[in-house]
Amino acid sequence: MSDIKQKPLINRYQTYDFVTRGVIPGAIDASHGTVLYLDDVNVSFDGFKALNNLSLFIDDGELRCLIGPNGAGKTTLMDVITGKTRPDSGSVYFGQTLNLLEMDEPAIAQAGISRKFQKPSVFDNLTVFENLELAMKTDKGVWTTLFAQLNGEQLDNIGRVLETIGLAELYSQQAGVLSHGQKQWLEIGMLLIQEPRVMLVDEPVAGMTHQEIDKTAELLLSLRGKHSVVVVEHDMEFVRSIASKVTVLHEGSVLMEGTMDEVQNDPRVIQVYLGD
Ligand SMILES: Nc1ncnc2c1ncn2[C@@H]1O[C@H](COP(=O)(O)OP(=O)(O)OP(=O)(O)O)[C@@H](O)[C@H]1O
Ligand SMILES: [Mg+2]
Repeated sequence: MSDIKQKPLINRYQTYDFVTRGVIPGAIDASHGTVLYLDDVNVSFDGFKALNNLSLFIDDGELRCLIGPNGAGKTTLMDVITGKTRPDSGSVYFGQTLNLLEMDEPAIAQAGISRKFQKPSVFDNLTVFENLELAMKTDKGVWTTLFAQLNGEQLDNIGRVLETIGLAELYSQQAGVLSHGQKQWLEIGMLLIQEPRVMLVDEPVAGMTHQEIDKTAELLLSLRGKHSVVVVEHDMEFVRSIASKVTVLHEGSVLMEGTMDEVQNDPRVIQVYLGD
């Protein structure tokens, strides 16, 4: 890591709260099989109900797709789960016991809920490996993280994530030369390295080539059973390729839940979303 000298890196890095994230061992009680509970959640913006008595339950280890027309409340829902937006009413629990409405954004992230935004935010002038190294959960400060030797377990962890995201052969490449799709996978890797219990992924395949979309589907499918992943996406072909259970949001509420076939044949869903 001795080639990392750039000051700007440190400055930018300080705005990243993933430095202090990490799962609190044993803190999440998902013994009933449900990892995320949202019940009767309401969010309004100047009288407009972005979420309207919304209830949603996510199973431990499941890959859930969330679809719905523009403005349905999908991103707002992620904002509520991650603590960015406070609902007016309702309850939001992580496992049986962690009340997310009593926690702030960093605490929620630290408890094991991470989020991937649409635009990749990897460090272009660091290698793939170094990006993962920086993202690795640690309670040490930035300087220690940058200059401490990795132990064997940490190296194994980075190696595993590199395999999962399909970038093992590119580990020494500067992230700046990666394709858009590869950057997205690297960013997913930067979340995975923190071993989140829940990952929220908003529109992961926007701007990707067909081939990249297929590889993203494979990547997300490979996470089943290890992480609960909630994917918001408008690309129906992609959703079909990964979905087991699909939740359709409309006007801030759950319109229906089911398999992709059930959803695509539902007259209400066709009317509000798939019709055109
Ligand atoms: N901070 C805010 N202030 C005011 N209105 C907001 C705010 N955030 C969201 N909204 C409104 O709430 C509604 C739901 O928005 P949201 O972004 O959750 O929709 P979405 O389902 O993610 O849509 P898209 O598919 O276009 O991303 C929209 O009408 C939006 O304009
Ligand atoms: Mg959105």
